[in-house]
Amino acid sequence: MSYLPVDPARPEPVRVGLIGAGWMGAFHARSLASTIPGAVLAAIADPALEPAVSLAAELGVPQVTADPADLFADPAIDAVVIAGPIRFHAALSAAAARAGKHVFCEKPGATTLEELSEVEAAVAEAGVHWQIGFNRRYAADFLAARRDLAAGAVGTPQLLRSLTRDPGTGSIPHAARVPQWTMFLETLIHDFDALNWMNPGAEPVSVHVLADALVEPDLRDAGFIDTAVATIRYSNGAMAVAEASFSALYGYDVRGETFGSRGMVQAGRPTETAARTYGPEGLSARTPRLNIELFADAYRDELADFAAHAAARRDGAPAPDHGVPLTPGLADARRALAMARACIESVQTGLPASVAGSVVSGAGEAHDGAAAVAR
Ligand SMILES: NC(=O)c1ccc[n+]([C@@H]2O[C@H](COP(=O)([O-])OP(=O)(O)OC[C@H]3O[C@@H](n4cnc5c(N)ncnc54)[C@H](O)[C@@H]3O)[C@@H](O)[C@H]2O)c1
Repeated sequence: MSYLPVDPARPEPVRVGLIGAGWMGAFHARSLASTIPGAVLAAIADPALEPAVSLAAELGVPQVTADPADLFADPAIDAVVIAGPIRFHAALSAAAARAGKHVFCEKPGATTLEELSEVEAAVAEAGVHWQIGFNRRYAADFLAARRDLAAGAVGTPQLLRSLTRDPGTGSIPHAARVPQWTMFLETLIHDFDALNWMNPGAEPVSVHVLADALVEPDLRDAGFIDTAVATIRYSNGAMAVAEASFSALYGYDVRGETFGSRGMVQAGRPTETAARTYGPEGLSARTPRLNIELFADAYRDELADFAAHAAARRDGAPAPDHGVPLTPGLADARRALAMARACIESVQTGLPASVAGSVVSGAGEAHDGAAAVAR
């Protein structure tokens, strides 16, 4: 027997530093350390050192620090994945970009549009790749629906819907410590992006929100929100509904739909697997319980796409082409954040609110090639 020769000229992997090694960061770390082609996890930064050190030990990551600035200063780090608390996202993104690192940032890109402008300026100046964690786009059923939409299956979009129901027990642990606008800035922001992506070329114009504490009514007077419905009007006339609950007893439920002049596409997997159980009481199936179950592949695929983009940018190679617009960037982060901010305003006033600042005037990165509309 003789082995075949192998070409040793493999491209250099993208060396990634993780910032924030909590629930989501640890999942990303495990993906980067094991299943993302073309990437290696080179370092972890988290002010909570003890869990970061044990994660690094588990994954064989050689460097751990309490200070993200150490990653920015390290010339061996090509890119960072930011999964810290959202109030730090903009400053971390901007500092990483200024240090020449490609950036994958968990959602939202910032908590205000002003903060996001600072990120936009730093990224433009540095010429790095910046991507946001709108993982839903990478889920097989959402991507298939988006491809069918691009092929004309829907015609002109008229009605859209998107929903998120987080798994729960009927009460929300540590609800009093959940920041007030989490519903819009961290949860429905996924739905806003999904709706925008499934309504190509249109801009969100206005929103009107109903929101309440139906799961934790004792926290209503403190302004806590666990249940919300937003209606959205788009520039192409389409109307959309986004809704979310923080407590679905049957598990994690995410769905999306675009209906139009020629038909409809739907995405959203109600069961954990294709298995069904038939018995005397009827038909049953297991439902997904966690985001990292429902979106396990999507979370990995978004990081694989990030690594491919970062490598292409680093090596001067063409960016990956997915056939349909897929990789979510700063324009998508801005559009979804502008909707979240408008929803917050609508809750505060009880009235419809205009979506302001969803597009940077003259930014040139228009939605699916549509003309940029400054609002
Ligand atoms: N895409 C998704 O489906 C999804 C799901 C869950 C969370 N997230 C996002 O991931 C991010 C983190 O959420 P989480 O649930 O993992 O939170 P978490 O609280 O579990 O983890 C946050 C981590 O950040 C660390 N941290 C605190 N301050 C920091 C700083 N200044 N710099 C770096 N790290 C710091 C904390 O010590 C902690 O380990 C948020 O943006 C959240 O919206 C996304």
